[in-house]
Amino acid sequence: MAKKIVAGNWKMNKNLQEGMELAQGLNEALAADKPNCEVIICTPFIHLAKVSEAVNHENIKVGAENCADKASGAYTGEVSAEMVKSTGCEYVILGHSERREYYNETPEILKEKVDLALANGLKILFCIGESLAQREANEQEAVCKAELEGSVFHLSAEQFANIVIAYEPIWAIGTGKTATAEQAEEIHAYIRSCVAEKYGAEVAANTSILYGGSCKASNAPELFAKPDIDGGLIGGASLKVADFKGIIDAWK
Ligand code: 13P
Repeated sequence: MAKKIVAGNWKMNKNLQEGMELAQGLNEALAADKPNCEVIICTPFIHLAKVSEAVNHENIKVGAENCADKASGAYTGEVSAEMVKSTGCEYVILGHSERREYYNETPEILKEKVDLALANGLKILFCIGESLAQREANEQEAVCKAELEGSVFHLSAEQFANIVIAYEPIWAIGTGKTATAEQAEEIHAYIRSCVAEKYGAEVAANTSILYGGSCKASNAPELFAKPDIDGGLIGGASLKVADFKGIIDAWK
């Protein structure tokens, strides 16, 4: 059975002090009331080492929001997968639509990042999802399949066990417009069928597929009740302990 996960993506929010306050607050809340799912917080690079030291990893795993597509060397401003791993964190988000769109990350670049992350022992939250125009043209399945084929379907089944898929329809990110639970379930089931076609039914059943896009405590229970939705990747609602905890509690 796929692991149930609620992951936060802080994006470019919170200075170091604010981030530490948020991480410590969540750490206390989950120590007092243990989660029924894996909880991950993905923070800006500068927070990683301190957050990783401050939280109880039994309750909270830590992840980065990106890593470089090169192993090391003269790449001013970049942060390598090895550096990310050395902070004590376990995950990295790759393929987020904001990286694809604003920083021109192509499937080929993402493939490099995926390989380096795995080579350095990181697990990957790999994001896929269609734009509004693609949804209106009914291209969501083709888009999701192509994004998987472009950057993760070259992996062996053993490597693929370290991939968590996050389906994030671009039209639902930060817009308050959530996909309905039915819409999300339909595409999640399709995504699982693509994994099954490539790696077999057992790998597909064990792959966590998260929903992301205006997920909050009020809609999480309905989304998470669907058989192919194994949790959420949360942006805005991961920035306050009470909001994020409310989503985590949807698994109770
Ligand atoms: P929101 O939850 O703010 O819509 O963001 C979703 C997201 O992009 C998570 O990676």
